[in-house]
Amino acid sequence: MHPPDPGSSAGLFPPTQANIAFFCSHLCKGGILGIPTETVYGLAALASDPEACRKIFELKGRPLIDPLIVHLASIEMAHAVANWNPSALKIARTFWPGPLTLILPKKETVPEIVTAGLPTVAIRLPGHPVTRKLLEQLGRPIAAPSANPFGYISPTTAQHVRDSFGDRLPWIIDGGPTPVGIESTILNCSEIPFRILRPGAISALELENAIGQEVREFESMVGQKVLAPGSLPRHYSPATPLSLFDSRPPEVPTKAITIWFSRESVPNPADPGQFWLTEDGDPSTAARSLYAVLRKADALRPEMISVQKAPHSEIGKAINDRLRRAAFRP
Ligand code: TXA
Ligand code: MG
Repeated sequence: MHPPDPGSSAGLFPPTQANIAFFCSHLCKGGILGIPTETVYGLAALASDPEACRKIFELKGRPLIDPLIVHLASIEMAHAVANWNPSALKIARTFWPGPLTLILPKKETVPEIVTAGLPTVAIRLPGHPVTRKLLEQLGRPIAAPSANPFGYISPTTAQHVRDSFGDRLPWIIDGGPTPVGIESTILNCSEIPFRILRPGAISALELENAIGQEVREFESMVGQKVLAPGSLPRHYSPATPLSLFDSRPPEVPTKAITIWFSRESVPNPADPGQFWLTEDGDPSTAARSLYAVLRKADALRPEMISVQKAPHSEIGKAINDRLRRAAFRP
């Protein structure tokens, strides 16, 4: 086995053929690994290896009640982990590989730690070419949550992963900045009607059109007392208190940072305390830069970060869901 090529920075490795072969063997031996996906970076282990999966929970500081997503190379591979129904299969054929996770009744082969003891499993076929190659060569499913400490902002670059875990995670594949920038849409296909549990780049309407059957929109659980697993209200949060605004930022302490949706609305772009998500108001660009901008603002340790909510659009809904959870204080 070849040793991995040296990365350009500590712990980050380019996706060369030799490195991918090395990382397949690393995973098969029970190792964990930072991987790029089209949504956010993930923290991967072999899904069939409960001890390796336990390392993910430990490194993230994630409670064992919060289940992981199983990532696969093909729909055939997905038949080994879940029980399918025809509509879910149609959706998978239409949107995979892509930023969409399906919840289906699980097969017994999936270890309890992956699904937190639930009778269902979350699965997806990621669209990132590097991770597709890794999964194809590995030929086995990997479990991977987002590669951030539990509750913190998700990572959209390999360096974000490195910043959070340092030498505690010696192996990260650098696949460049993630093109979507927010986590996959999660669709519960284990009950009729299908229901969106986490909004993302793929909308209820697109899903509904694909199957010609009702798909329930996402309903925010933030502020409600009883929560489904995985709908924890506080999430994606910077260390700095965060508040949201529609058109005018609140009166804030002097050491505050304002993040506007679009540069066009910034009263004084030269002010170093004024950030923005997009130059021209494009919601997909805003989703792509959201987490990097939040991390940059948080690293400056202001007293407060005020963020402008996204205007109404499909991906705007997903951005505002993440912002509401980032701002939530119990
Ligand atoms: O885009 C993504 O989905 C990224 C990349 C790495 O694939 N992954 C990701 O994983 O966001 P994570 O673990 O950060 O979020 C997965 C969510 C969690 O809120 C979890 O509770 C929920 O999916 N989940 C997992 N299995 C579930 C199940 N059986 N039923 C309901 N929710 C589930
Ligand atoms: Mg996460």
